Amino acid sequence: MRTSRSKLWGGRFTKKTDPFVERFTSSISVDYRLARYDLEGSIAHAKMLGRCGIVSRAESRRLVRGLARILRSIERGAWAPDPTAEDIHTQIQQTLEKLLGSVARKLQTARSRNDQVALDLRLYCRDAATTLATAIRSVQRALVKLAATYRGVVIPGYTHLQRAQPILLAHQLLAYVEMLERDVERLQDARKRIDVLPLGAGALAGTSLPIDRRYVAKLLKFPRIAENSIDAVSDRDFALELVSVLAMLGIHLSRFAEDVILWTTEEFGILSLDDAFATGSSLMPQKKNPDVLELIRGQAGLLVGGLTAFLTMMKGLPLSYNRDLQWDKRFVFSAVEASHDALTVLERLVRHVEVRADRVTRLLKDDTLCATDLAEYLVERGVPFADAHGIVGNVVAAAERRGKRLGELTLSELQQFSPRFDRRALALFDPKRSVERKRSFGSTNPRLVRQALERWEQRLRSS
Ligand code: ARG
Repeated sequence: MRTSRSKLWGGRFTKKTDPFVERFTSSISVDYRLARYDLEGSIAHAKMLGRCGIVSRAESRRLVRGLARILRSIERGAWAPDPTAEDIHTQIQQTLEKLLGSVARKLQTARSRNDQVALDLRLYCRDAATTLATAIRSVQRALVKLAATYRGVVIPGYTHLQRAQPILLAHQLLAYVEMLERDVERLQDARKRIDVLPLGAGALAGTSLPIDRRYVAKLLKFPRIAENSIDAVSDRDFALELVSVLAMLGIHLSRFAEDVILWTTEEFGILSLDDAFATGSSLMPQKKNPDVLELIRGQAGLLVGGLTAFLTMMKGLPLSYNRDLQWDKRFVFSAVEASHDALTVLERLVRHVEVRADRVTRLLKDDTLCATDLAEYLVERGVPFADAHGIVGNVVAAAERRGKRLGELTLSELQQFSPRFDRRALALFDPKRSVERKRSFGSTNPRLVRQALERWEQRLRSS
């Protein structure tokens, strides 16, 4: 239980804060993650104060040196959050006062925690967007590698989770690479709106002191400066955007996880997980479970829930800063950390997955996978597609009635349904030929998929 603590405020108060209020309002257990960014921001602020003559050059240098010392202790791992501090800004201020004495009390000149915390969160989000984009790239590379290794493998493609048409496994893996690419693009785009300097807004109105925001922006590598001080301390769009991009990423990862979960069942038998990435059952000795993938699939719920909670928390907030905003960090940190963990484990899992090429052929014994090829074959012979669709539908139903596979029908049996069938129709019930017959750009044709693989290999090499 905390007793008392020094605050960044308190002059106008005659009573000590209720201990439960202290505990309730404290955010250090969450925002300690901002320590590095808080220090980087403070160092830039202290430099600016000296340069603008708001503190002396010597004072500025002392402040910068003191802050840099704290930063180094963090990098060495010799720093821990102080549970009695109100928040990370308070803890760093207290440490600085211990190090430097009264000069430390000049650091908060022309700055409020409102613009300070907005800055810290933007610096955190900016880093996170870059780190996550890199982590997505690693998963993409692992997927492309897997696709390239098994480039010749044909599997049934599904719609409505019913067998549809033969596809290359590589083609489906590349579908996920495309999805992830959009996530990278969204992160890069969100970064543009993260990358705006809020510092210098003060509490909400700016300051009467002669600060230089442009200089701070340059030091912290912000291409833009927030143009309205009220917006600067109130805006959390940038964080909402990041969390929403990550919710979408989470949904993509959950869909991939689900496909792999299905594919590793004995019923599908397309993939097998490496033992190092599977888990067992405490009761059933034979089990090899895809818990990692299930956790990733479930995590999408946490991400979407976090986004919804964050949006709801923002709704109807009056301008400008309100303490409600303290909750924002929970949503941001948990989304960033969950996404990063999921991407890291997924990349490793994909690198160790194996395709059960022997078992896959069993799935292809279903000639109806090629029914669409038969209809397109009739179209090539002048039959309107809708008629061809009906004819082949009848063929499928008749084969089913006779207990035969489509490929077991004789030419004369086929010709009972359309005189346009000739000998070449009988060769269509081959999944490999089915993919080879595809020719439209973006299709599962092996030559086109090979080109797509090459494009991705090239693109991922240079990014
Ligand atoms: N811990 C606070 C937050 O995360 C810092 C800003 C506090 N500002 C204030 N006016 N009480 O939002």
